Amino acid sequence: MKQLANINSLKDWRRSIGTGSVGFVPTMGALHAGHGKLIEQSCAENEKTLVSIFVNPTQFNDQNDCATYPQPLKEDLELCEKAGVDAVFLPQRRELYPDNYTYRVIENEESTVLEGESRPEHFDGVLTVVMKLLILANANKAYFGEKDWQQLKLVRGMAGAYFLDTEVVGVPTVREEDGLALSSRNVRLSASARMLAPEFHRVLSTAMDCAMARLELESLGFDVEYVDERDGRRLGAVQLEGVRLIDNVQAME
Ligand code: PAF
Repeated sequence: MKQLANINSLKDWRRSIGTGSVGFVPTMGALHAGHGKLIEQSCAENEKTLVSIFVNPTQFNDQNDCATYPQPLKEDLELCEKAGVDAVFLPQRRELYPDNYTYRVIENEESTVLEGESRPEHFDGVLTVVMKLLILANANKAYFGEKDWQQLKLVRGMAGAYFLDTEVVGVPTVREEDGLALSSRNVRLSASARMLAPEFHRVLSTAMDCAMARLELESLGFDVEYVDERDGRRLGAVQLEGVRLIDNVQAME
């Protein structure tokens, strides 16, 4: 497995693949079985798989959250190697943002609701970095988890709006046996919060409507940011002892 520490080495690697198909999995590291699933699908559908690991500062509302974001690089590289990844791109901030983030990709509708309302400018940072990574990876397909439903929708919309050649593929959420969606943030849950956390998915899936889901979650001790339905999905964001969880399920008929 190749480790590509800068843009030139990524471009050289990409050129060396020629016309072979490339699947791309962008990540911020702290990889878990959910990322494993994206990688597995990419490996199954493409001749080569490229993973990027970059904790993108422009998508964090709280720079302290960015600074303390887990970065277990050794374990991440081991997971990639075992999963059959061909190359891992590990860019530096100054190289990805030569303009110091003066150029941005901004979407004006979908990015302002739900996650966008709770986390202003979050999606500007996501879309800008994903655009840069998609251009550099020049992949046939790029894989994104359905857990970040709004992100997936926005990235797909961006690829269409800017005529990108890369197909954006959504991959179903991977869950613990008790229903909790896998997330790099789950390790921050205390033992008692971890016990309660699966209730989030249960309530989202079973409540009769969004208002009932909110009430039930609040009575269980969650701080609810939003529960809402759009395009046939019920989406929610909650906090448990300061740890933020998001999830989404198919909305009830
Ligand atoms: O989903 C993530 O991990 C990030 O938002 C992404 C797509 C890698 C962009 O930094």
